[in-house]
Amino acid sequence: MQHKGTKILETERLLLRRWKESDAEEAFAHWMNDPDVTKYLTWAPHGDVEVTRALLKIWERESAEPQTYKWAIVLKEENALIGDIVVLCADDFQERGTIGYCMDKKWWGKGIMTEALSEVLRYCFEEVGFFRIDGEHAAENIGSSRVMEKCGLTCEGTRRNFFRCPTTGERVDIVERGILREEYFKNKR
Ligand SMILES: CC(C)(COP(=O)(O)OP(=O)(O)OC[C@H]1O[C@@H](n2cnc3c(N)ncnc32)[C@H](O)[C@@H]1OP(=O)(O)O)[C@@H](O)C(=O)NCCC(=O)NCCS
Repeated sequence: MQHKGTKILETERLLLRRWKESDAEEAFAHWMNDPDVTKYLTWAPHGDVEVTRALLKIWERESAEPQTYKWAIVLKEENALIGDIVVLCADDFQERGTIGYCMDKKWWGKGIMTEALSEVLRYCFEEVGFFRIDGEHAAENIGSSRVMEKCGLTCEGTRRNFFRCPTTGERVDIVERGILREEYFKNKR
C-alpha cells in the first residue's frame, strides 16, 4: 500500500475535494447541525457554527496529509457542498481502512452516496492498494445499509445494543461489513 491522501476525485455528478475552513457555514447549514443526519452518528448536531469551523480547521490541515482520506462532497451542477466521506486508516501494516459518510438530507435517496463510495473504493483499491475496507452502521439505518450493500460490503455480523447514539440517547445494534481487495476486483469483472 502506498498512501496518496485526499486526492481530488470526480464522478458523473460529484467532485470530491479537500476541506477548507471556509466551508464551515455551508456544512453547518446543510447537515452538521441536523439531528436527522446525526441520528445514528458518533457525534451530536454542532449547535454553533464555530464548532464546525474549529473542526474544519483541523480537517483542512489533515486533508493535506498523505495518510489522510477525508473528502468534502460537492454536487457539480449546483456547486453545492452536500456531504462528507472519509476513510480512516489507523495502522499501515494492516492495510485496512474504515469508511464513514454523511450528507444533507435534501439529497438523500438519489444514489449520491453510492456514487461517492464507489469512487472512493476504486481509489482505495486501485490506486492506494488497501487490502480491506470496513464499514459499520446501525441495523435500523436502512439508507446506509443499502449504500454499503450496493458497493459490495458484505455483512459480517451484528453487535447487539453496541452503540448509544449521542443525538437520541438510544442504544442500537451495529452491523459490521467489509470488502476485500480480491472481492472488489472480482465484482468489477
Ligand atoms: C446514509 C446516507 C449517506 C445514504 O445516502 P444516499 O445518497 O441517500 O444513499 P443512496 O441514494 O445511494 O442509497 C440509499 C438507498 O436506501 C434507500 N433508503 C433510504 N432510507 C430508507 C428507508 N428508511 N427505508 C427503505 N429504504 C431506504 C434509498 O431509497 C436508496 O435505495 P436504492 O438502493 O433502491 O437506490 C444518507 O441517508 C445520510 O447521510 N444519512 C445520515 C448520516 C448517516 O447515517 N451516515 C451513515 C452512518 S453509518
